[in-house]
Amino acid sequence: MIITREYASFAEARDSFGGSIGFVPTMGALHEGHLSLIRRAREENDHVIVSIFVNPTQFLEGEDLDKYPRREEADRKICELAGVDLLYLPSIDQIYEEDELSISAPKIRGYILEGASRPGHFDGMLQVVMKLLNLSRADRAYFGKKDAQQLVLIQQMVRNYFMKVQIVPCEIVRDADGLALSSRNVYLSPEERRRALSLSRSLKRAAKLVQSGERKSEVIRAVMTGILEPEVTELDYVAIVDRNFRPLEEVELGNTIILVAAKVGETRLIDNLWV
Ligand code: PAJ
Repeated sequence: MIITREYASFAEARDSFGGSIGFVPTMGALHEGHLSLIRRAREENDHVIVSIFVNPTQFLEGEDLDKYPRREEADRKICELAGVDLLYLPSIDQIYEEDELSISAPKIRGYILEGASRPGHFDGMLQVVMKLLNLSRADRAYFGKKDAQQLVLIQQMVRNYFMKVQIVPCEIVRDADGLALSSRNVYLSPEERRRALSLSRSLKRAAKLVQSGERKSEVIRAVMTGILEPEVTELDYVAIVDRNFRPLEEVELGNTIILVAAKVGETRLIDNLWV
């Protein structure tokens, strides 16, 4: 595995690859969710590139940029064992210069739900993903459905800018108790972790309702809210949207995402279910 922090040596290594390239961009503190993306990239491509970069432009003032978990040593080992060919660990100055041009998330889809709670977050996310996709020149890039709105916006960016990369959506990986894996789960105390299970529990209940024939978003949201409210510190949203993030009054099988975002203690968590 080649490890580099500088664009010049990254580009040199990248250019030495023949065959197809699979790319997995991350912010590190790697867990089984990240690993599932890396494994899939390994299966489907001749070469695998992983980046670890805690991107400052997608954190809002007052968010957890400074305390975001950094585990470089462990992350390196995980990548090595997973058969990654090239690991890129750029510093901020390898990615950004002063007075950059910028990319804006779409006015509606980029500013509802996560975009409403974290205004500007998706601008910064798209900006860095555009850079990372361009510098890796991958054939395929792998993203988790865990960050559903992020995934849909990246697909839109690739479409709108006629980028050639194929975006591969990957299933959400959960702990045995149902909690969706997240680098931010380390912030949770044991008691908070127990309460955080209400997110996946509410989604499981929603799935059951849909299975039993319920289609009305209002009914499903009310049941979910009833499960969440006694447990979470602050319920941000429960939403039912189509695969383009347009709100749905009724669930459309095969075209629906049910989403939840909530704070448990100080930790903001998101989870969702594609039905
Ligand atoms: P990060 O949170 O590190 O996530 C990297 C990738 O792993 C994302 O595509 C995310 O959806 C996926 N992922 C995280 N948890 C997952 C889980 N439990 N199951 C499946 N996939 C999971 O998302 C980012 O970083 C950043 O915004 C990034 C795209 C790297 C841009 O900075």
